[in-house]
Amino acid sequence: MILVTGAGGKTGVAVLKALVARGAVVRALVRSNSCRAALNAFGVHDIVAGEMDDPRAWSRALHGTNAVYHICPNMSPHELPFARALVAAAVAHGVRRLVYHSVLHPQIEAMPHHWAKLRVKEMLFSSGLDITILQPTAYMQNSLTEWERMVDDGLYRVPYPVDTKLSLVDLDDVAEAATLILTEAGHSGASYELVGTAPMSQIEVAETFGRALQRDVRAEAEPIEVWNHRARNAGMGDYPRETLTKMFQAYARDGLKGNPNVLGWLLKRPPTSLAAFAARMAAIHA
Ligand SMILES: NC(=O)c1ccc[n+]([C@@H]2O[C@H](COP(=O)([O-])OP(=O)(O)OC[C@H]3O[C@@H](n4cnc5c(N)ncnc54)[C@H](OP(=O)(O)O)[C@@H]3O)[C@@H](O)[C@H]2O)c1
Repeated sequence: MILVTGAGGKTGVAVLKALVARGAVVRALVRSNSCRAALNAFGVHDIVAGEMDDPRAWSRALHGTNAVYHICPNMSPHELPFARALVAAAVAHGVRRLVYHSVLHPQIEAMPHHWAKLRVKEMLFSSGLDITILQPTAYMQNSLTEWERMVDDGLYRVPYPVDTKLSLVDLDDVAEAATLILTEAGHSGASYELVGTAPMSQIEVAETFGRALQRDVRAEAEPIEVWNHRARNAGMGDYPRETLTKMFQAYARDGLKGNPNVLGWLLKRPPTSLAAFAARMAAIHA
């Protein structure tokens, strides 16, 4: 049985759907029971609710499992303590296989959530567990927050300059790769960068969505102060807002650039292009 943590979130749901489609026996660790019905709807019924800093929750979640796919909540200040609690419980329960959902380029200290994932990786090396680390770049799905603006106003708004280059990946490709790694032998000790596209400017991203929507879509930079104000008014907490601000500033400086070769090798097909993703989204939302 495979335990998926952070299971009620965007990534957890995608990974669980892919595992269920492959016939894997799964358990979900969620924070609250509010996402139970949504998980049941696609065939996940073994669900444990609990906090990632609670050893009793880890104990209930790990009982009877033989592998864990660990997804820390997004922009969490507790990435390292949560992972430490998981490792202690996994060792105590004799669960040896751990696949960790990290991020592309965790070496970038300017982005605290990337840097925390590097510290986790360092800790995992001395855990004695059988580990694999997946390092996805920014998901294509993140652009969907701008979907209505693209459809209604022909605008794709980003809180960094429009010539900022990012490599993107379809979360469904990430979930497919995670499923292969969890269900096939031969991935122990590996760290895989999961990248779907060459670096693309935000102008190219907007034009790609425009072609799928059959209308002009123009990229527009939103000043970081304006984004910050909007995020605060929308109720985003200080830590995620400050961390995202640092991430956007790092993007503006250096972009986030990777190479799709490794993902293509894992999936045995080219990763999904942004054009194919945009066409899929346009068909779903039509
Ligand atoms: N988005 C990207 O482009 C991207 C790219 C690469 C890597 N990543 C990484 O992917 C990971 C997951 O991101 P995501 O966007 O899928 O996350 P998410 O949607 O924020 O989901 C996180 C889940 O964890 C739960 N959770 C929060 N605090 C918890 C706690 N103390 N104990 C137990 N569960 C808790 C949340 O439950 P509640 O909703 O009930 O609080 C939520 O269901 C992050 O580590 C992120 O860095 C993301």
